[in-house]
Amino acid sequence: MFGDFARHSATAAPLYGELSDGVADDPELAALLLTAPVVQRQPVLLFACVHWLVLAHPDEPLAAFYPNVAARLGVERPPGPAIEAFRAFCGDHAADLRRLLSTRRTQTNEIGRTALFLPVFALVERDAGPFAHVDVGASAGLNLLHPFYDFSYEPGGEIGSGSTVRITCGTRGQPPIPSTRPTVVSGTGLDATPIDVRDPDQARWLEACVWPDQVERFERLAAAVAIAVREGVDVRRGDAVTDVGALVAEAAAVGHPVVTTSWVLNYLTSAQRLAFVAALDAAGAERDLSWVYAENPTLCPELPGGPVRPPSASDPTALVLVRWRGGRREAVHVADTHPHGRWLHWLGTPT
Ligand SMILES: C[S@@+](CC[C@H](N)C(=O)[O-])C[C@H]1O[C@@H](n2cnc3c(N)ncnc32)[C@H](O)[C@@H]1O
Repeated sequence: MFGDFARHSATAAPLYGELSDGVADDPELAALLLTAPVVQRQPVLLFACVHWLVLAHPDEPLAAFYPNVAARLGVERPPGPAIEAFRAFCGDHAADLRRLLSTRRTQTNEIGRTALFLPVFALVERDAGPFAHVDVGASAGLNLLHPFYDFSYEPGGEIGSGSTVRITCGTRGQPPIPSTRPTVVSGTGLDATPIDVRDPDQARWLEACVWPDQVERFERLAAAVAIAVREGVDVRRGDAVTDVGALVAEAAAVGHPVVTTSWVLNYLTSAQRLAFVAALDAAGAERDLSWVYAENPTLCPELPGGPVRPPSASDPTALVLVRWRGGRREAVHVADTHPHGRWLHWLGTPT
């Protein structure tokens, strides 16, 4: 597994590629992963746990090999291979590492995806007015904070200024980029295991799950976490299928309810996905409702409006607007996108 991971990650994440190569050659290091529950035994878990400890100990020799920590410290990467320092660090922190490996599971919150939602929100707002946002599978709830982020669409224009978070998204086609942020009257998240970023331990775990080679993504996440701590964010613990209806009803009391899901429904079984759509159908039968999803159509073939033949890319992501108006459901595949929101290819604006 470490050998495979090294091959696949070497281009996007040179440090993890190098470390993974080293672990593949060192049975004692690789065996650390056996501390984790069977279903969690993935190389990324070991790397996230070590990253968490590195972020807590930036003064240790290994830290300077991590591009994100080196950038923060303003130091150069030391000469020589990183694996020696990695091995020493794992030995010195063996007890903490084992505790983390046995209890943690990787969890992310990718704020780049808000750039995908904004043009669709603009369409919904034009049609249904100010909206109440319900993000299902919200993780730490950072994608509810789009009113506090700035956006650059290239081409397409800028939205907002002065935020510590700027999200850049390349565009193709004619996405309806709004000139201002949408008017959101409330934001509520729902997650099976919400992350509370006011707890520094949990915030650091979210950061540790980002690959240290992706310095810009790491810094952007840290800035979004700081906004979440400052502004507060409401993420409830619950299940996508059984609890979405109550949150939609709550949202509808203050504005037009808009549900979002992004890279969440692939964690559900096929039956659960169908039940989730049925729960939204039930909510949409009672009141007008919108659902914007950015999901993998290959892994989630049951969703309405997905492409008939999904592209064969490794992480295809379909951006779909589903609307219930007067009890009738209509779904439009509006864009193909990068899974983290780095680009979107607009396919057509629904009327
Ligand atoms: C890959 S993360 C995506 C988080 C966020 N939507 C984003 O785009 O960054 C998937 C999230 O879905 C949550 N999740 C998985 N199954 C769920 C369920 N049945 N009900 C609620 N949340 C769930 C996980 O806890 C996790 O936070």
